[in-house]
Amino acid sequence: MRKNLIAGNWKMNVNHLEAIQIVQKLSYRLDVADYERVDVVVCPPFTALRSVQTVIEADRLAIKLGAQNVDWHDSGAFTGEISPLMLQKLGVSYVIVGHSERRQLFGETDEVVNTKARAVLGAGMTPIVCVGETEEERDGGAAEAKVGSQIRESLAGFDPEAIASLVVAYEPIWAIGTGRTASADDAGAMCAFVRDQVREMYGEAADSTRVLYGGSMNAGNVAGLMAKRNIDGGLVGGASLDPDTFASVIRYWI
Ligand code: 13P
Repeated sequence: MRKNLIAGNWKMNVNHLEAIQIVQKLSYRLDVADYERVDVVVCPPFTALRSVQTVIEADRLAIKLGAQNVDWHDSGAFTGEISPLMLQKLGVSYVIVGHSERRQLFGETDEVVNTKARAVLGAGMTPIVCVGETEEERDGGAAEAKVGSQIRESLAGFDPEAIASLVVAYEPIWAIGTGRTASADDAGAMCAFVRDQVREMYGEAADSTRVLYGGSMNAGNVAGLMAKRNIDGGLVGGASLDPDTFASVIRYWI
């Protein structure tokens, strides 16, 4: 019922020329059967979006384009920001909102994340809303409390019709960039919890919401994670920068 989705978050890596190469190499390694099974998304830095869009269009690739961040205004005096309409015009279909690095390093609150996610939906794109607990919170038994409140506040006031197309990424902060993946059981339980929270807010539309796991996902652990009923894909950082590795993650069932 839910199509799997694997998104590469390249973070602040690669220039536009390197981005073109990664997408071209990735596309050589994937075929129709892969795209039927998995929605494949790449999220380059803003400076590479136009170049990657051009490759996708010229070569008619089924890879979808994502952005890593966005402002919520349509336009105006917001020096350095990028609007949802600008991204939409570039053929962007997914926008990561509220990544833990933005929350921790750039002070994004649940309220900001909520405003951004609604602006993304308003521009006809799909937000990938990120949630996740710190190591301290997990050790203190507060992982569900933290993620539950992030879900309630980040997803408040959405048009219920948007919930089915929504993507939520559960990314435990202690697993990001550390090589320490959550066990498949723990990740599966937290993704089930995320879906339950969305269901409490919006009812059965939550059964269509895609819930991704993120945090040191790689070619070696992806199959175990994807075997969990409530994990519909991954938000992949480091392992998405190498086209061979990322293709192996996408083809996890082979
Ligand atoms: P890593 O896969 O590098 O741990 O990054 C995960 C992440 O933050 C994806 O958004």
